[in-house]
This record gives sequence, C-alpha cells and structure tokens, in this order.
Amino acid sequence: MNDYEADEYFPDFDGEYDSKGRPIRHTHKRSSRKTVRKLPQTTPVLSDFSDDATAWVPSYAAHLDPRHHERQWLIESLSSFYRDNVIFDVIRQVKSGKEANVYCCEAHPATGVELIAAKLYRPRILRTLKNDAIYKAGRMLRGEDGKELKGRREKLALQQKSKFGQHLDMVWWIGNEYAIQQKLHLSGANVPKPIGHNGNAVLMEYIGDARLAAPTLSDVTLSSDEAIRLFKITMDNIRIMLDNHLVHGDLSAFNILYWAGNISIIDFPQVVNARTNPNAMNLLQRDIKRVCDYFARFGVKSDPILITRSLWEPYMGN
Ligand SMILES: Nc1ncnc2c1ncn2[C@@H]1O[C@H](COP(=O)(O)OP(=O)(O)OP(=O)(O)O)[C@@H](O)[C@H]1O
Ligand SMILES: [Mg+2]
Repeated sequence: MNDYEADEYFPDFDGEYDSKGRPIRHTHKRSSRKTVRKLPQTTPVLSDFSDDATAWVPSYAAHLDPRHHERQWLIESLSSFYRDNVIFDVIRQVKSGKEANVYCCEAHPATGVELIAAKLYRPRILRTLKNDAIYKAGRMLRGEDGKELKGRREKLALQQKSKFGQHLDMVWWIGNEYAIQQKLHLSGANVPKPIGHNGNAVLMEYIGDARLAAPTLSDVTLSSDEAIRLFKITMDNIRIMLDNHLVHGDLSAFNILYWAGNISIIDFPQVVNARTNPNAMNLLQRDIKRVCDYFARFGVKSDPILITRSLWEPYMGN
C-alpha cells in the first residue's frame, strides 16, 4: 500500500472523510478566497455518480479500507467504464508509480477481450512531468475537445499554469496519449490496442495473463538470436512512429513490454511531433541510443548515431 498523500488522488481534497468514507470538501474554508473558479469537470467527482455507480466496488478495492484514498480514487476514475460496459471488475494493481497506477481489469464480455489494463494518472502528474518544456515545444494548444485553442483565456491559463490551465493540460496529455496509441496501432506498430479514455484514465489491451503482467525488457534476459530479432522489431517500430511524424521521447527497455516472444511499446504521454518540435531529432537519438545500449548487453552491435541519421535524413527529405 502506498503512502501517497490524499491530494495526489483528489486535487481539492482537504483530508477528512464522511461516515461513508467519502472525502469531505470544506467549502467554508475556501469562502474567504476572492475568486473560486469552477472547473469544467471532465475528471469525475463523487457527486457526478448515481447511487448505482457508487455502489460498484471492484474486487481489488474491496480489499482496501473504505477510507483509503486509492479505493476512492479507483472507483471515481473507473466507474464510468463500468457503467458503459467496458470493464466488469478490477482484479489487481499491476504497478504503482509516481505519475500513474496501472490496474488489471476484467473486461466486460461485450468488448471481446478478457483483460484490460487501466492506467490512472494522479493529478500530481501536472507537477512532476520532467522537462515539460522540451516535449511541449512547438505543440499546438488544445482544448478538451482536442481542437486548437483560439480563446485568449484558455491560452493564458495554460501559459500561467493556473488551476484551469492545469486541468486543460491533464485532459490534453491523456487525450494525446490515447490518440497517439490509436494512430500507431492502426499503423501496425507493436503497441497495446487502445480501448478508451476519460479525464484521468487510459484503457488498453492488457499484455500478460491473469496471473502475471508482461515484464518490461529491462527485466528480461534474451538469447542472442532473440535479441537480434527484437532489436529489428524495435527499430521497425521507431520507423513506423517517424512515418507518423512521431518520436516516442522516453523509449527504453523500461517502456517496452515482453510477452510470448514479442514486444509491446507503451507510455506515450511525452511523444513529440517530429515536424514541429525542435528537439525531435535529439529525442530520437536518445531513444535509439537507449535501445541500442540495452540490446548491446545481449551481443547486438549497432551504431546509434548512424541509425538515427539513416532514419532522420530520409524523413527530412520527405
Ligand atoms: N498494457 C499493459 N499491459 C500490461 N502491463 C502494463 C500495460 N501498460 C503498462 N503496464 C505496466 O505498468 C507499468 C507502468 O506503465 P507506464 O510505463 O505506461 O507508466 P509510467 O507512468 O511511465 O510508469 P513508470 O514510471 O513506472 O514507467 C509498466 O512498466 C508495466 O509493468
Ligand atoms: Mg513508463
């Protein structure tokens, strides 16, 4: 169990619960503030749910204390997918990180798959995304509908990182991750099939089985034959991304899953647009170097600078 503070799960949470274990929001404490801007709510809050939805307690949450932050957060974040017959249950936590938790969910039979991975972002991602500026350079400012922001108020809010701006930012990162994964999946890249998203969760094909989630390449030892084969697949995937004008930006053995002899690339929120981001080539080179360094452990010889040039120059030529 984590020791995360309540505000990492509930950005406006004051730290006390009511008799049903729900966070009590002390509106009177804020009444002294001059302006309290009401945010457009894409991220669900407790009051958005009907009694039916709040009654849903997935198996994993049932093992947690009703007053535990993670339990509340999980139910709030995933109830809409339960209501829409996408997931049926949350079986267990796969990974808990600083920016997101990943859960293994039992899919609703209507989806045609058995298991679904749900990646839930903590609101804290807004404060911890590293080198935000490098990834955002050249990026269009987009609103909740994914369209370019024209309004002065929204642009200002984003630039000044006001609460409204942070909300738009969070929605943007998640929508962006989903859209990229969908584009890459349709282009034949080795990425988990995306299934859905909302204000703070992305759902996708689960890699692994009910007992075990796929390990990352960083936890796997490869034979030299397999290493050569998977190295080529990884480079093909980097090329598919570039064909789509995308550079992963955080590619390494930690963001590549290994299962049944194949790879799946994950973790797309920081992907950059190769056409508009001035850091794209440097990020591409860093991605390629990290991949080459990993496969070198198993005897794959490669030159990351040469590979970067062989991909980037034809791309720029186009
Ligand atoms: N589709 C999936 N199927 C199975 N496991 C997954 C899936 N997606 C993510 N995971 C698991 O969750 C972990 C974290 O996922 P991801 O890399 O997308 O999030 P993150 O916020 O970058 O976390 P971290 O900082 O730990 O890398 C992965 O290392 C993997 O163990
Ligand atoms: Mg990751």
